[in-house]
Amino acid sequence: MEAFKFFLQSLLVFHLLFLVQPAHADGVAPEEARQLRDEVRGMFYHAFDGYMEHAFPLDELRPLSCEGEDSLGGYALTLIDSLDTLALLGDQERFASSVEWIGKNLQFDINKTVSVFETTIRVLGGLLSAHLIASDYATGMRIPSYDNQLLNLTEDLARRLLPAFDTPTGIPFGSVNLMFGVDEHESKITSTAGGGTLTLEFGILSRLTNDPIFEQVTKNAVRGLWARRSKLNLVGAHINVFTGEWTQKDAGIGTSIDSFYEYLLKVSNMNQNSGPVM
Ligand SMILES: *[C@@H]1O[C@H](CO)[C@@H](O)[C@H](O)[C@H]1NC(C)=O
Ligand SMILES: *[C@@H]1O[C@H](CO)[C@@H](O)[C@H](O)[C@H]1NC(C)=O
Repeated sequence: MEAFKFFLQSLLVFHLLFLVQPAHADGVAPEEARQLRDEVRGMFYHAFDGYMEHAFPLDELRPLSCEGEDSLGGYALTLIDSLDTLALLGDQERFASSVEWIGKNLQFDINKTVSVFETTIRVLGGLLSAHLIASDYATGMRIPSYDNQLLNLTEDLARRLLPAFDTPTGIPFGSVNLMFGVDEHESKITSTAGGGTLTLEFGILSRLTNDPIFEQVTKNAVRGLWARRSKLNLVGAHINVFTGEWTQKDAGIGTSIDSFYEYLLKVSNMNQNSGPVM
């Protein structure tokens, strides 16, 4: 029942955020909908349990060899990626034990060079949404013993990403070392999606911590990209973050660019809903 309430609330939030008409499940009978739901649940647990058994606490499970692999930073990435799905499925027990494990064991003062983009959308995003879910009675997933451990981790991680934004254009380097900042020989070329798909997570973090720096640097990066659009109001696919020159000039809505537009839409909604920080 709690889970169902949460599901309904999620749907409501989804509709409010994206201003779409409620979906009508035309042609799907309630019985079939339940079967499909159970199938999705079964597929999720097949993947999640397989990861926990064979790969955790490494980042990912290799599906053929069935071995674990640290593919991003070596911080139980798949577990972080799974938190909101555990909550959405109403799995209070595993959501709570996962949040607790992460709060106790995760640390980011590690000598690892990571993608700013992947770390933001998967790790910052995963930790922030789990933090909000674990803090709020209305989700039905509140964890009584939870004491902002995930928010604390998120802020620590985000501060370790900040050196990437120290460029003449404000558009960040693609990768940064979590302990030492930007590597000496780091590439100055980044994708439009990589530089401009960060404001949602960093913006929410600014609101939760009352420190505007996270929202400022990521909005500055979006403005840095937008300022370099063509006369046709289009952005390219790859750019040099020092000179601001496009190194791959084709525009599109596919790989390297897609989520740039996605986040413009989502972040403009964020501003309408709660007012800009800056
Ligand atoms: C950090 O990691 C790099 C690459 O693995 C290694 O060459 C370097 O020695 C490490 N630095 C420190 C201080 O551990
Ligand atoms: C996280 O918590 C630890 C211990 O309570 C504290 O020392 C640290 O400053 C906190 N970090 C952040 C980013 O708030």
